[in-house]
Amino acid sequence: MGKSDFINILLVEDEDFDVRRVKNTISFYDTRIKIAEVVSNGMAALDLIRSNHDKYDVVIMDYQISGGLKGEELITRIRDIDPFIQIIVITKMTINITNYDFANNLLKAGAFWFCTKYPGNIEEYIYQPTDFILSIFNATEKKRLEKHRTRSDKKLSQSIENMLEAKRIIGESKPMLQLKESIERYSKSDVNILVYGASGTGKELVAWNIHLKSKRKYESFVPINCGSIPSELIESELFGYEKGAFTGANTNKSGLFEIAHNGTLFLDEVAELPLHAQVKLLRVLQEGEIEKIGRTDKVSVNVRIIAATNKNLANEVNNNRFREDLYYRLNVVPLDVVSLKERGNDIMLLFDYFLDYFSQDMGVAKPAIEEKAVEILLNYKYPGNVRELRNIVQRLVLNCTDVITVKDISNPIILRNHVILKDETNFDDVYSGQVLPWKEMEKIFRTKYFKYVRSISSSDSAAAERLGLAPSNFYRMCKELGLK
Ligand SMILES: Nc1ncnc2c1ncn2[C@@H]1O[C@H](COP(=O)(O)OP(=O)(O)OP(=O)(O)O)[C@@H](O)[C@H]1O
Ligand SMILES: [Mg+2]
Repeated sequence: MGKSDFINILLVEDEDFDVRRVKNTISFYDTRIKIAEVVSNGMAALDLIRSNHDKYDVVIMDYQISGGLKGEELITRIRDIDPFIQIIVITKMTINITNYDFANNLLKAGAFWFCTKYPGNIEEYIYQPTDFILSIFNATEKKRLEKHRTRSDKKLSQSIENMLEAKRIIGESKPMLQLKESIERYSKSDVNILVYGASGTGKELVAWNIHLKSKRKYESFVPINCGSIPSELIESELFGYEKGAFTGANTNKSGLFEIAHNGTLFLDEVAELPLHAQVKLLRVLQEGEIEKIGRTDKVSVNVRIIAATNKNLANEVNNNRFREDLYYRLNVVPLDVVSLKERGNDIMLLFDYFLDYFSQDMGVAKPAIEEKAVEILLNYKYPGNVRELRNIVQRLVLNCTDVITVKDISNPIILRNHVILKDETNFDDVYSGQVLPWKEMEKIFRTKYFKYVRSISSSDSAAAERLGLAPSNFYRMCKELGLK
């Protein structure tokens, strides 16, 4: 409604006789409906609508007025200026009441309703008053709903914007720019995507970004970690079951596929999916239907799949641990999320981003950082990738005051993961820019060397032999070092 409680009408009518009839028809409701203005031509109507923003709720316009601008063109131009205004058209009796083309054209142009004027001998009313008035009320209600919907849509897209901001992917290195470009490109389509990346590189973040940039953004994003659900439960998690399907099935359970209907399902650690569940998953991807346990008819679902893995899935296929047909279904578009150490200065961009985030979060001033400390951070290998860097920053903000120093960084509480450097075969970066007690360094060295020799040997006994150790001693030492 307009600014008052009245329904404000703009009447476009060039014959005084009909102006009087319209006024009289609605006079019974003059406490609710007010003719705010009467004009005799289309141009004057447009001027008023343009200069009185949101004043008029309903335009009642005669179809046959003098002047060039009238009919469908006038309707279109009014709606261009104010898409919420509702338009009721009154036409002369000469229009055949079964002329559906005429009606269609009016509605297509954007009219809300139209009626045929009473003949001239009915002097009091333009049309049956209750119907006429009811249409005005309905038109106003439609305006209110359309405004409301637009406001909600705006709020929704605002909240999507906020989520995208919270899930922003930080990184300007070449592989990250390429990744972001791929996300932009493939989020628009509905193809299945397979995200590769080591632990903590941001695979789930990538999946979120694809979802939030896709046409499914207002629907659910449903993540499931295939590795963390016991094999015998995974099917009921994914597909659900009907009450009574087996002992203990006391209620119907919706599967994640149903919950993700119209949205996105994120299958994390997909390589861990047991083979029996792989068969079922394949069928869903082929047919778009799920078979719920205990239900005979199938349930259609429309779900976009994003899968993630830190394993080489092609290798899993070669070793018969992953179905080849499923692999091809999931791997329509492969996206690689490279390790943090391959992202150059992104390390410092992320460091700064997390530093901002945690300082704000903990309500402390953002600390500065010594140059030497930056050097250590840049040289560190981050086996836990971005997640590890995030944890490091969080710990630093908790432990430091105004400047982050080399001493702060070298504290084993901060870079504590340096002991389990993952890159087994590379020897010169054991050091990580830090000085460690000899015992600790010796342990790192032994661990790395053992891992290295194992990685180039066909079996553990072969490794023991190469090292000149008795197999039993080798096993014991492995155990002491925490190597399986
Ligand atoms: N490029 C990035 N920009 C900002 N934050 C990031 C980025 N990459 C990862 N993160 C943050 O790091 C953490 C780990 O990311 P995420 O959970 O997406 O990684 P993942 O690859 O799924 O890890 P995992 O292998 O352990 O499942 C999250 O808090 C995430 O928001
Ligand atoms: Mg993850």
